[in-house]
Amino acid sequence: MQKLIWFLGIDETIRRHAAAVWPVVESISERLLNEFYSDVSQCEAVAALEPEIVERLKKNQLKHWKALLTSDFSEDYFKRASLIGIMHREVDLDPKWFIAGYFRLTQEIVRSVLALPLPLDERYEMMHAFSKCIALDMALAVSSYSSWLVD
Ligand code: HEM
Repeated sequence: MQKLIWFLGIDETIRRHAAAVWPVVESISERLLNEFYSDVSQCEAVAALEPEIVERLKKNQLKHWKALLTSDFSEDYFKRASLIGIMHREVDLDPKWFIAGYFRLTQEIVRSVLALPLPLDERYEMMHAFSKCIALDMALAVSSYSSWLVD
């Protein structure tokens, strides 16, 4: 995992800028996740989701974003990121839905970061750090999917 972090160029500066993105995600999370799971339940990507499952997914997905952006890539974060791929594969979620879903969420986050009343270079640094984090996160989730694809 450390090699992947090195390969993506995730260093102290990147971690600091990534942490600055977390309050943005938190501030839009309610609308973001409500709209996301409302549309997810209409596209038949997985079997019907009970309302209590949706509530748990919203809570756990938000916890995951927090860990990704602020936990300094702890052992716990790595376990959770791989577990997400495993859980999705257990519910038969085709990776195309995971990837499309991920991009949909990140586009909203990008829009909110770009709208911050901050100098352009600060917003650039935040976006730069954010893109590295999501590359890492998707790589880990898709990697646990792919071990299933070759099973
Ligand atoms: C269309 C796309 C997606 C669908 C249909 C979907 C659906 C699901 C389902 C059905 C589960 C298992 C729920 C359970 O029974 O416990 C799950 C787990 C999970 N998903 Fe997704 N998911 C999608 C995309 C994403 C994305 C983009 C993320 C963000 C990283 C994400 C984060 C999670 C997390 C954190 C869990 C584990 C929840 C737990 O710990 O209970 N999902 N997802």
